[in-house]
Amino acid sequence: MTTDSGELRVGTRGATNANVSAAALQHVHMTYQARRGENVLALKDVSLDILPKEFVTIIGPSGCGKSTLIKIIAGLVRPSSGEVLLGSSEVTGPSADVGLVFQQPVLLPWRNVSKNVSLPLEVLDSAKNDRRAAVEQLLDLVGLGKYGKHYPHELSGGMQQRVSIARALVHDPDVLLMDEPFGALDALTRDQMSFELMRIWSERSKTVVFVTHSIPEAILLADRVVVMSKSPGEIAEIIDIELPRPRRNEMVNTPEFGAYVQRARTLLNAETTAH
Ligand SMILES: Nc1ncnc2c1ncn2[C@@H]1O[C@H](COP(=O)(O)OP(=O)(O)OP(=O)(O)O)[C@@H](O)[C@H]1O
Ligand SMILES: [Mg+2]
Repeated sequence: MTTDSGELRVGTRGATNANVSAAALQHVHMTYQARRGENVLALKDVSLDILPKEFVTIIGPSGCGKSTLIKIIAGLVRPSSGEVLLGSSEVTGPSADVGLVFQQPVLLPWRNVSKNVSLPLEVLDSAKNDRRAAVEQLLDLVGLGKYGKHYPHELSGGMQQRVSIARALVHDPDVLLMDEPFGALDALTRDQMSFELMRIWSERSKTVVFVTHSIPEAILLADRVVVMSKSPGEIAEIIDIELPRPRRNEMVNTPEFGAYVQRARTLLNAETTAH
């Protein structure tokens, strides 16, 4: 990524250690200035410490500030006040330490799969041979080793989303930020992608922050589920998920899993019926 001055931002890679959060928000407020009507308070005094290698999921009512929170950690949006850290460095703009995945894969239609995945490396100006090796490795990791020469329109929605995950990981960021990445997929593909993502997460030892509207998905994936309250967004509760890893599909039928779902649902119902 480049700064406003065009200078390459090296970022904070390697700054994390046992005592430093992978990402942290301290008393973050975010008010969007309205062009017309009232300003929108999107986040109100949000503090959150995300540990290195942790898998954190975020759920909350529509409009409660989940995407805003992701964009703030990514350095795409500056908070109105409060501090945001990646490792031990303050976030002042987009950084190569972060990989981003959105609900839609946003691939470039005129570039084949390999060229889409290699884009961040081209932006970072890494050597051509290194690029090729990294792209091949990542495509294998997401199960698309044979599809490098295909174009996005030749792939299914799930395959395209896997390409966008490979692209987010190709420059080896410490933190992967995912905003409803499986929202547009059918239920079966969505389940498969969840397990695929957990495999990648454990193989690559990344920190993941993952927004979803699905309570079971949030619980199955997470070490901790952050439940946000209705707008203006505050954290209502953080639920520690103590299910063993690796997680398995059958776990969703256990009483423990059911209790987590019940807890999250109660919190969200309280949020959507309050006010
Ligand atoms: N660029 C913007 N300008 C003005 N208001 C904005 C902007 N982006 C978001 N908002 C407002 O901030 C609030 C939080 O939006 P945000 O997109 O973070 O919510 P969300 O939790 O991701 O919602 P959803 O679940 O529907 O994706 C909303 O009220 C939204 O209208
Ligand atoms: Mg959103």
